[in-house]
Amino acid sequence: PLVTTKEMFKKAYEGKYAIGAFNVNNMEIIQGITDAAKEEQSPVILQVSAGARKYAKHIYLIKLVEAALADSDDLPICLHLDHGDSYELCKDCIDGGFTSVMIDGSKYPFEENIALTKKVVDYAHNRGVVVEAELGKLAGIEDAVNVDVRDATFTDPDQAVEFVERTGVDSLAVAIGTSHGAYKFKGTPYLDFERLEKISNMLPDYPLVLHGASTVMPEFVKKCNEFGGQIPGAQGVPEDMLFRAGKMGVCKINIDTDLRLAMTASIREQLINDPSNFDPRKYLGPARTAIKGMVQHKMRDVLNCSHKI
Ligand code: G3H
Ligand code: 13P
Ligand code: NA
Ligand code: ZN
Repeated sequence: PLVTTKEMFKKAYEGKYAIGAFNVNNMEIIQGITDAAKEEQSPVILQVSAGARKYAKHIYLIKLVEAALADSDDLPICLHLDHGDSYELCKDCIDGGFTSVMIDGSKYPFEENIALTKKVVDYAHNRGVVVEAELGKLAGIEDAVNVDVRDATFTDPDQAVEFVERTGVDSLAVAIGTSHGAYKFKGTPYLDFERLEKISNMLPDYPLVLHGASTVMPEFVKKCNEFGGQIPGAQGVPEDMLFRAGKMGVCKINIDTDLRLAMTASIREQLINDPSNFDPRKYLGPARTAIKGMVQHKMRDVLNCSHKI
C-alpha cells in the first residue's frame, strides 16, 4: 500500500536500520527499485524532485507509482517530494497524492526556515501527510576539518531541537559533511559523527535524514570511464559510514547519484558492446536490472532494511 513514513521510521528507529529513499524519474528506475524492494521484502521511499516532476510530469509519476503498488502485493511504498522549495510546490504534491513532502528551507535564516516549515506542516498534517525539513548547509565543504567552518555550516544540535519543537516537523535532514552529486570529498571522506551523535541524543526517538548519501560506487564509475565516460575523481560516502549512521537515529538515507551511475554504466556498456543495436529495450532492460541489483545490495548490506515488512 501507499503509506507515509510514520510506521517505517518508527520501526527503523527501534531496529537501528535505515530506509532507502531513491530518486525516480521514469518507468525503468521505478521498476528497478520496486523489484528490488519486493525481492528484499523491504519498505521503500520513492522520491521525486522538482526537476523529476518537470521532466516526467506529476501525473506520469503518480500513475507509474500506482502501477508499482498494484504490482507489489503488500509492499509499503512512500511517495515523497524531494527538496520542495516552496509552500506551493509542497501543497501541489500533497493535493496530488504524495504521502510525504520535504520543505527545504535550509537556505533561509533560522526564523524564516521555521515559519516556512511550520506552514507546510500545518497544511500537510491536516491531510495525513508527513513532512521532512532541513537545517544546516549541505553544499560541499572544502575545509571540513576546520572547526569554525563546520560550526558555520553543519547542523547545530541546539537549533535542531528548537526547530523540531517549534515546527512539529516529522523528520529532519542534517548537515554533517555529505553533499549531493558524484564529487563529495577531495581527500579522505569525513563525516562529523560526533555532531550526529549529539543531535541524535538530544532528539530521542526522532528520525533524522541523511541527504547526499550515495557511495558513488567505484564499480560503476570504473565502468562509465571504461566505456567512454569522463567522471574522473568521483568519490562518495563509504558504505560503512552509512551503516554507522543507520545505527545513530538516521532513518532515511537518500540515494540518487548511485542510481544514475548504475544506469549510465550499464547503458554505456550495452551500446559499446552492441553497436548495431538500436532497440532501447535492449539497453534499458539491462539498465533496469543494474538498478535492481544495486538497490538490493544497499538494502541488504548497507541500510539493513531487508525483511523488515
Ligand atoms: O537532491 C537532488 C537529487 O539528486 C535530485 O536531483 O534535482 O537533478 O532531480 P535533480
Ligand atoms: P546523492 O547525490 O548522494 O545521491 O544524494 C541524493 C539526495 O540527497 C537526494 O535528495
Ligand atoms: Na527528501
Ligand atoms: Zn538531497
